[in-house]
Amino acid sequence: MVITAKQEALVVNSWNEMKDDAPTFALKFFLRLFEIIPSAAKRFSFLRDSNLPLDKNTKLKAHAMGVFVMTCEAATQLRKTGRVNVGANTSVQHLASVHFKAGVADVHFEVLKFALLETIKEAVPYMWSEELKEAWSESYDHLVVAIKNEM
Ligand code: HEM
Repeated sequence: MVITAKQEALVVNSWNEMKDDAPTFALKFFLRLFEIIPSAAKRFSFLRDSNLPLDKNTKLKAHAMGVFVMTCEAATQLRKTGRVNVGANTSVQHLASVHFKAGVADVHFEVLKFALLETIKEAVPYMWSEELKEAWSESYDHLVVAIKNEM
């Protein structure tokens, strides 16, 4: 198994603590990505065409939530089957194609991981540990590798 039962529990338990405010946290880690790499925002068609402030953009929030939820779900999928399954409404191939066409690069995925972990640390400081960080990192890495392998 690529993820242990303990790692899955760490991810799921911390998710349960964060889930009520998950859209806010998700937006926060995307805004952090754009602080570090401002040009990353231009990858999104709906940001190029919009005058709305980033924190009011519902499509950005929806994408951010998708990343957060899929990373959490990956922990359970990896523990159960050893593989990432991105869900019934999409496929890894589709996600790879969308990200490739939008010009999403390795550095975007890497900085997003940093921002995700930093946000979780700030959201649940009382749960934070090296093990929790490792558990979320593993889930995220496997999800991203699955997408990048098809890109
Ligand atoms: C689109 C997931 C990371 C940029 C999408 C979609 C999903 C998704 C579900 C919608 C696909 C569709 O149209 O059917 C993920 C996951 C990620 C990830 C799971 C990481 C684990 C990133 C990163 C960027 C990014 C790091 C960097 C900027 C985009 C863009 C689109 C997109 C530009 C197309 C949006 C548009 O213009 O309509 N992503 N994403 N994604 N994602 Fe991601």
